[in-house]
Amino acid sequence: MSSGPVGKHFDSVAPGYDRWKEKARHYYAALKASLAEIVPPRNHVLEVGCATGDILASLDPADGVGIDISPAMIQIASRKHPDLRFLVHDLMDGPIDERFDFVVAADVAEHVPDLDVCVQAMAGMLTDNGVLVIVTANPAWGPVLHLAERLHLKMPEGDHEWRSRGDLLAAAIRAGLLERSFTRSLLVPKDLVGVGVLDRAAWASGIRQRFGLIQRAVFETGRGPRTSPSGLVYPDPT
Ligand SMILES: C[S@@+](CC[C@H](N)C(=O)[O-])C[C@H]1O[C@@H](n2cnc3c(N)ncnc32)[C@H](O)[C@@H]1O
Repeated sequence: MSSGPVGKHFDSVAPGYDRWKEKARHYYAALKASLAEIVPPRNHVLEVGCATGDILASLDPADGVGIDISPAMIQIASRKHPDLRFLVHDLMDGPIDERFDFVVAADVAEHVPDLDVCVQAMAGMLTDNGVLVIVTANPAWGPVLHLAERLHLKMPEGDHEWRSRGDLLAAAIRAGLLERSFTRSLLVPKDLVGVGVLDRAAWASGIRQRFGLIQRAVFETGRGPRTSPSGLVYPDPT
């Protein structure tokens, strides 16, 4: 049984989830590429809110674990990706008993009732050198996304709350994390000939950073060794 309205909503969406993703394949390709810039292949990776597991699989982990509140999503993910581990888990119940080099959350932070609890749980599953990557939709896109949902052009999201950079940063700081980077990308979430240049051209980077749909916030624990601009490593590992 799934817990609460969020789990029930995503249980109901699960059978058609991959069809929605296929409709939004340009967006998902950009989302996967954005995560792959941070998460190198062959690592120990956790995806929280993994749905049917395709994002986790795209990161080619040496040991990949996906957790999700929705049993229906986890059932599909386990069938599709038998080389990865999946389990039903509500982030609001805290961390699972395993630590990861990378914890990834794509389009999940909008769905949790308490962002602090969510980020603390994710921080609690990082190794000392661990990196947390949270991807959310830029709140500036809220009206467009709502309209697309009403027109059945995108997956119904259920109740959710847009998360600003400030929201994510404040929750991360309260969880004891440091911000490593914050970037926005993807101005044109459809494969439109001619306009796609906006997502590639160097001259449009400032526009992307302000208005891009995909917000990627990267955090680290601050417990691991750090490298100064002069190349010194702190604390000295010798
Ligand atoms: C919009 S989907 C994104 C799925 C996937 N990350 C992707 O980008 O394709 C949000 C997912 O987060 C899961 N989720 C929402 N709240 C959760 C929670 N408290 N704990 C674990 N998973 C949760 C949902 O069941 C759903 O599968």
